[in-house]
Amino acid sequence: MAETDILGPAVVEAVDIHHHYGEGPQRVDVLFDINMQVREGELVIVTGPSGSGKTTLLTILGTMRKPSEGKLQLLGADTTGLVGAELDALRNRIRFLFQKRNLLSSLTAIQNVIAGVSTTPLADPDWDEARARHLLGMLGLGDKAEAWPDELSGGQQQRVAIARVLIGLPDLIIADEPTSALDRVSGRIVVDQLKDLAMRAKCAVVLSTHDERIFDVASRRLHIEDGRCFEVPIHYH
Ligand SMILES: Nc1ncnc2c1ncn2[C@@H]1O[C@H](COP(=O)(O)OP(=O)(O)O)[C@@H](O)[C@H]1O
Ligand SMILES: [Mg+2]
Repeated sequence: MAETDILGPAVVEAVDIHHHYGEGPQRVDVLFDINMQVREGELVIVTGPSGSGKTTLLTILGTMRKPSEGKLQLLGADTTGLVGAELDALRNRIRFLFQKRNLLSSLTAIQNVIAGVSTTPLADPDWDEARARHLLGMLGLGDKAEAWPDELSGGQQQRVAIARVLIGLPDLIIADEPTSALDRVSGRIVVDQLKDLAMRAKCAVVLSTHDERIFDVASRRLHIEDGRCFEVPIHYH
């Protein structure tokens, strides 16, 4: 059975997306004719040289930026005309992870994790705290719950950031080069957690990277070159 047969519906569907920055003589065209889908349970990596448009694409897919042209469907909704409460509700199901500076410096590690909880009418602070502690323990940070971000190494900070993503049980994670500032062990923990969430919670993950050490976690690989995106077959060894 092909992998596509067991995957769920599309979480992300980009149709003919085009993006440029600036206008007139300053105009720079960055993305052309982007067509892609990411399904529930998939971890898709986006590769490409520096300046090729990876961050632009990821910010568009995460609704942080509107594409100049084209259509973006997220979780079954057309985002084109979406504003206000509807857009907020959609964004509440998305989590971001950047290369660094993912934490609020005025909150401790555990407070940062709890900040990732999706607020619902049934919120229970004790339960949130227990889950945050459990996640920190799982990520090898059980003794760092009360630490401030600047008391933690880059790898530890990124593991706190991963706990904050996990506690929100998002439907879509956008991760822009999340391992490029990390040592091998922390980088592996971060991508393994993302992969695990994709597979167990049917989350979709879009992850840009230069880091060949983590290519093996991908369900699929998309490569951007000169603003155009194409699929690169993955060879498992
Ligand atoms: N806010 C912006 N204004 C103008 N040009 C930008 C802006 N952000 C990125 N660019 C340009 O768009 C191109 C793609 O950038 P980016 O999406 O950051 O690529 P990558 O993440 O692959 O390095 C680059 O040429 C970059 O200089
Ligand atoms: Mg970038």
